[in-house]
Amino acid sequence: MKPEYWTEESTAFYDRAWEFRDDGQIIVPGRYLPVFGFLVPFFKLNVWGPDRRSVLEVGCAVGHTRRLLRQEFPDGIVYRGVDISSHHVARARELYPDGDFVLGDAKALDAADAAFTLLIAVDVLLHNWDTAELLGEWWRVAAHGLIFTTRVTATHPTIRARQGEAGIPFHILNQDDLGGLVADLGPDFTLSHVLPLAALGGEVTGLPEGFGEDDASPVTVILLKNLPAPAVTFVHGFLAALRSNPNQS
Ligand SMILES: C[S@@+](CC[C@H](N)C(=O)[O-])C[C@H]1O[C@@H](n2cnc3c(N)ncnc32)[C@H](O)[C@@H]1O
Repeated sequence: MKPEYWTEESTAFYDRAWEFRDDGQIIVPGRYLPVFGFLVPFFKLNVWGPDRRSVLEVGCAVGHTRRLLRQEFPDGIVYRGVDISSHHVARARELYPDGDFVLGDAKALDAADAAFTLLIAVDVLLHNWDTAELLGEWWRVAAHGLIFTTRVTATHPTIRARQGEAGIPFHILNQDDLGGLVADLGPDFTLSHVLPLAALGGEVTGLPEGFGEDDASPVTVILLKNLPAPAVTFVHGFLAALRSNPNQS
């Protein structure tokens, strides 16, 4: 992934994607909702003290996740954002001067094994080709869970396309290929929401002929390991709710 794909213009886009109302309400982009829908109640379990509520966000863009997490957890949460774009990191530092934002590649994180309780990566995998390498690195740094969003197709082999004028890599993984890579990590639990289709967004070129919006679905995958018992109970309940309403967003 070339850092220069992520420019001043894209920084502004990700800045605008969240809305902060005067009454304190945060309007979060839809792609983050299934992530926070798990992460927030998970960290509200009594098992995590403030310093065990720790999140490493890969591809944090301008860092608005920090604001939401601090609002949800006023008594403390550890949040670090990593991004490959110097524009994004500079803007994140400007918006949140006390924040912890690091310039870096998601493939080689400057963090010890199991350094963060959860690692999240929203729409990062779909812009990088090296899926197995990325997932392996993220799983290494996550003590208990990895949550990522990407696009999958059930009807085509894995597709490498391009998006927008900059020609940003756009990766739509075959659902079974992704399933195999995930299984190789050996999670104790795998939760996945295949959401009803949202627009692919931007001009995507290089898709196979006849490939339509119905052929690709945004997916949120939650992989968990080494959980304390109360968290296991919570996950069973969460899974049961997901099974009874698999398309919730
Ligand atoms: C599609 S944007 C998503 C931004 C944000 N997560 C969101 O969903 O609003 C992808 C972000 O990931 C960053 N990124 C892409 N590849 C990366 C990599 N290999 N390492 C670190 N950051 C990366 C980009 O700079 C960009 O900020």
